[in-house]
Amino acid sequence: MEVLKKLNFLTLLLCIYLALTYPNSETAKDYYRSSSDFVGGFSDPAALAHDFQSSLISLAWSNYDDFNSRSAGQESLQYNFYHDTCPKAEKIVKEIIRQVYNVRPDLGPALIRLLFHDCFIKGCDASILLDGTEGMESEKDTPPNETLKGFEVIDIIKEEVENVCPGTVSCADIIVLAAREALLQAGGPYYPVTTGRRDSMISYAQLAMYQLPSPYGDLDDVLASFSARGFDERETVNLLGAHSIGIIHCKSFHSRLYNFSGTNKPDPSLDPGFLDTLRSRCGNISSHLLTAPSASPSPSPAPSPCRSSFKSPQSPIEEPGVAMDHKGTRREFGTSYFRSLLQGRGILYADQQLMSREETRNWVRAYAWDAVLFRKDFSDAMMKLSNLNVLTAPDGQIRRNCSKVA
Ligand SMILES: *[C@@H]1O[C@H](CO)[C@@H](O)[C@H](O)[C@H]1NC(C)=O
Ligand SMILES: *[C@@H]1O[C@H](CO)[C@@H](O)[C@H](O)[C@H]1NC(C)=O
Ligand SMILES: *[C@@H]1O[C@H](CO)[C@@H](O)[C@H](O)[C@H]1NC(C)=O
Ligand SMILES: *[C@@H]1O[C@H](CO)[C@@H](O)[C@H](O)[C@H]1NC(C)=O
Repeated sequence: MEVLKKLNFLTLLLCIYLALTYPNSETAKDYYRSSSDFVGGFSDPAALAHDFQSSLISLAWSNYDDFNSRSAGQESLQYNFYHDTCPKAEKIVKEIIRQVYNVRPDLGPALIRLLFHDCFIKGCDASILLDGTEGMESEKDTPPNETLKGFEVIDIIKEEVENVCPGTVSCADIIVLAAREALLQAGGPYYPVTTGRRDSMISYAQLAMYQLPSPYGDLDDVLASFSARGFDERETVNLLGAHSIGIIHCKSFHSRLYNFSGTNKPDPSLDPGFLDTLRSRCGNISSHLLTAPSASPSPSPAPSPCRSSFKSPQSPIEEPGVAMDHKGTRREFGTSYFRSLLQGRGILYADQQLMSREETRNWVRAYAWDAVLFRKDFSDAMMKLSNLNVLTAPDGQIRRNCSKVA
């Protein structure tokens, strides 16, 4: 409970800080939005991987020419790297994630998404956490970040870890460890992770900029993007299974319901019954919501967002959304997502497209019916993701504050 108190206290501090610093700015608004942006209900375990979807899709657009420029740092990673220097590190991460998850389960999936955004841009080096400075734009400030959340959780963990062993544990390792615990909390499989990553000294806003958070993504692009990072089709289909826990905002698939590819008609590949379901859940969304979500004023007033963050299960629902897996349970992590694809009920175009090709379709079938296989492959893929293009000593650094270069 100690940590929990601290968490609320820090949130309050952050809120005050933001309110003072940016009384009217986007940053403050975005923060407020993210603290009240909880769509699911606490009782609905399916509603936990909020926004994971758009993350994967947006990743498909990133530029990866520059990807494998670091030498094989992953060979220097070790299990329990902090065994001597900070033996409590992993335990602290685990404890804080568990407590956060109890009050804000939506932040669990947000942390998994953060891992993707970090590792897919340049590598798992915590570059996603850096704030912009005068000389450097930040990945955080590029459009694909739109709905990224969970930064405050990383900061809380970091602070706790710094108290115990200053200047020792990298932010990059914290992201990796936090995502692992978050996945476990959301009903996903456990997987071992190595540590010893170091933090980058730059943020790669330019690289991140190539991403467009397009939910209309084409399968070719998705596959190409994963492939450039060493994931084959099987692994890509598998990782997309993480969508089985989550809620996706209606704006991300609205055009499929009413105006697919500019035809003024729904996507013909949508199952008609499912189309009705989605339409009734989403209703009509006004166009400003569809085009410029970050620039649009909050449609619903968000009263005292600071007080409610981390705490209130009754946060206002700002935008309608649909659970990626409305029927599933934690136990079914993964498989129900694939089963809904088999039924033509993929919410996003890019998801449903997995059925349009033989190779990917075969994996969808395999995972739909074999939860054990899915979980095993998923563990492997997450380990691989966590080791993408890491920085290890003597490169990089250990940041003291994850938002800025030490
Ligand atoms: C995301 O980027 C926008 C600018 O595109 C910025 O205003 C916003 O603060 C960023 N969000 C986060 C969570 O950093
Ligand atoms: C449908 O989409 C097309 C292309 O994006 C656009 O030009 C058109 O105005 C849209 N129709 C409606 C009714 O919004
Ligand atoms: C949604 O919009 C369409 C056309 O723009 C309209 O025909 C329909 O009645 C609207 N539905 C609701 C529930 O408002
Ligand atoms: C970390 O650095 C950021 C950016 O300079 C600052 O806003 C924040 O307060 C710092 N956090 C801590 C715990 O010092």
